[in-house]
Amino acid sequence: MESPSGKLVHITTFGCQMNEYDSARMLGILSELGYAPAESPETADLVLLNTCSVREKAQHKVYSFVGALREVKRQRPGMIIGVGGCVAQQEGRQLLKDIPYLDLVFGTGALERLPELIAEAASGRRVACTDLDPGPLAPRRVALANPGLKAMVTVMQGCDNFCAYCVVPHVRGREKSRAAAQVVEEVAALAKAGVREVTLLGQNVNSYRDPEGGADFADLLEMVAGVPELWRVRFTTSHPKDLSPRLIEALAGIDKVMDQLHLPAQSGSDRILKAMRRGYTRARYLALVKDLRRRAPDLALGGDIIVGFPGETEADFQASLELIEAAGYDFLFSFKYSDRPFTKAIDLPGKIAEAEKSRRLARLQDRQREISLALHRAQVGKLEEVLVEGPAKRGTGLMTGRTRANRAVNFPGPPELAGRLVMVRVEQGLVNSLRGKLVDPA
Ligand code: SAH
Ligand code: SF4
Ligand code: F3S
Repeated sequence: MESPSGKLVHITTFGCQMNEYDSARMLGILSELGYAPAESPETADLVLLNTCSVREKAQHKVYSFVGALREVKRQRPGMIIGVGGCVAQQEGRQLLKDIPYLDLVFGTGALERLPELIAEAASGRRVACTDLDPGPLAPRRVALANPGLKAMVTVMQGCDNFCAYCVVPHVRGREKSRAAAQVVEEVAALAKAGVREVTLLGQNVNSYRDPEGGADFADLLEMVAGVPELWRVRFTTSHPKDLSPRLIEALAGIDKVMDQLHLPAQSGSDRILKAMRRGYTRARYLALVKDLRRRAPDLALGGDIIVGFPGETEADFQASLELIEAAGYDFLFSFKYSDRPFTKAIDLPGKIAEAEKSRRLARLQDRQREISLALHRAQVGKLEEVLVEGPAKRGTGLMTGRTRANRAVNFPGPPELAGRLVMVRVEQGLVNSLRGKLVDPA
């Protein structure tokens, strides 16, 4: 294929870390074609939008973003605009009908086909590709020039769980794990290039299974932790119904595996959990939390809660408030339920009014702020291992980094510390971060 050297590409990413990872892969594929990154969509020859469909609001962003490019496209008709990711997978060709100046629609399985799709779009045809790639997951073509300190590595894609509210299985397809050897190879390459922390990604990493050797996720953690230049390993997301004792042991026992777990509960009410088809009860979830706390006392636990699922009563909502309290979350992602295409919950009775959902969300978030603050204040006096990222955004002379539990810590220190592991004594706990003081290693 002819290299369009000198051409510029701009990629905007919405949604989860899967999409961020995919965007990095897209950039890798496009740089092999000779594309360089553009400063803004307005100056690019190729503008790609990697979209999210998990909630209605996320999907709406697509139309406003592409709408803003209408005028630019009118002035520069040669510019190619493409929409990829989960909304592309969901809507397919319909997007071309809805947006007359859109050139290209590519679904979540079409990344490897981007070169041919772009060539087709460049020849003036409007193209849509939503085939879910049936082959094994391709290795990322990592741009290793400047990978930074931290990187994400997808270990599995798709989801088989079909929670009643969720579009992900419909737009990402069935679960598919990458070969462990390939994951380790990628991590090793990243570590050689200077990456010190990797986050292993999957919609449900607990159901990881090496298609070649049969290793499970606990085995994979062990293998990745064996990469010499790598210091830290994190992973997300874990489904409570599949959190195995082996994984809890790996979390507690492997030193390079950090003290952090994202374990979404979604609700604290058994009735709602059942309607959500989550496969566990509130008691089972809290028993898991208890096990985790016993084996890994320094663990920072995170969760997701949906408020206003169809049929959720005030009592059900109270149960969620109680659950976040009992779980003692360090961080919580909370969402107002929204209807998604293809999902079971669309047809459920008892839809909750938007205003009520907003009230519940605000109450939940207020409560979580108090919980986070109390937890962070309880860190005062502790000595923490911190991976220093660089100067803090606010506060002169302050550096910022992350503890093993992934809490952000700001502390006075010289810029030369960036990229190093230091010890910091916690002096103050805030809602979203800690303040501390460097401790002399001597
Ligand atoms: N695989 C991950 C979650 C992926 S989606 C897991 O199971 O934990 C991220 C979060 O979005 C979910 O955890 C859920 O809390 C939220 N979410 C998904 N569908 C939603 C919907 N229809 N309305 C509101 N929130 C939703
Ligand atoms: Fe969605 Fe449930 Fe799969 Fe998570 S486990 S991606 S919430 S269907
Ligand atoms: Fe959104 Fe797709 Fe991720 S729907 S949350 S970008 S898998």
